[in-house]
Amino acid sequence: AGTIEALTKQIQQLKAQRDAVILAHYYVPPEVQDVADYVGDSFALAKLAVDLPQQTIVLCGVEFMGESAKLLNPEKRVLLPEPGADCPMAHMVRKADIDRVRAEHDDLAVVCYVNSTAEAKTWSDVCVTSSNAVKICHALPQRNILFIPDMNLGRYVAEQLPEKHVILNKGYCPRHVTINRQQVIDLEEAYPEAVVMAHPECPADVLDEADFIGSTKGMIEHATASDARDFIVCTVVGILRELERRNAGTSKRFHFPATTPRCVNMDQVTLPKVAACLRNPAPYEVHVSEELAPAARVTLERMLEYAA
Ligand code: 13P
Ligand code: SF4
Repeated sequence: AGTIEALTKQIQQLKAQRDAVILAHYYVPPEVQDVADYVGDSFALAKLAVDLPQQTIVLCGVEFMGESAKLLNPEKRVLLPEPGADCPMAHMVRKADIDRVRAEHDDLAVVCYVNSTAEAKTWSDVCVTSSNAVKICHALPQRNILFIPDMNLGRYVAEQLPEKHVILNKGYCPRHVTINRQQVIDLEEAYPEAVVMAHPECPADVLDEADFIGSTKGMIEHATASDARDFIVCTVVGILRELERRNAGTSKRFHFPATTPRCVNMDQVTLPKVAACLRNPAPYEVHVSEELAPAARVTLERMLEYAA
């Protein structure tokens, strides 16, 4: 704990010297969330970055989050404490599959989950996150939607919007797909009164068991507003830090599936790395190539417009 305290103090000093702000996703390790100025879901982090006065943004998250912050703030310096922390799902889409579907439909919108590479964003019409995917797809003028890369979020959107024809892609989150229905049922048997919350990246049969489906932020808000005592939480365990912080002093209990899903990519973002990137920023800086940036930026800006 001594090291955590010393590092936290060092980070606070370096942050002030560099006019930096620290943003963290709910899945990074708890001590990293604690040192952040803001903790949020993917949408909150993308939106926040635009409104902040600081010229340097330290993004404690995975690569696509750093790229999104950079694309929306080309004038600012965006640092990723672990530039190698990537989201495998971001790469699970091929241009050829998009071209094929585009050729088959005149009236098509390619909707890109923000968990995607900058390049995949250039192939797409609009970005979404799990907190606004249904709202944005509903608002799109096109009836046909190709949803990339996540098939689970895409299928959830399709179920919510029967008036749309949603075409799915084969991407998935390797962490959320480890959660299965039997694990949820086992927890429901142990805690029959529990509220079941699930991230829409979970498989369909897990979502069928859920009382509430939403983004990380959505689940945190739902649990905080609820009078229930027990919650079965179908997502990555990193979310526990904020669930406990927001519900301190209550008797609420949070139960995770037996596989205790961890995002090994988010786990790579550690306090020593946050300190290191503030000490010597250059190797940690996010760059999006000039070839990709303009078109990728448009799809992200469209998300902000539609979500407003
Ligand atoms: P949220 O948008 O809910 O924060 O989710 C991001 C993510 O990577 C989930 O796996
Ligand atoms: Fe990607 Fe899954 Fe990790 Fe989210 S939890 S960042 S989707 S690997």
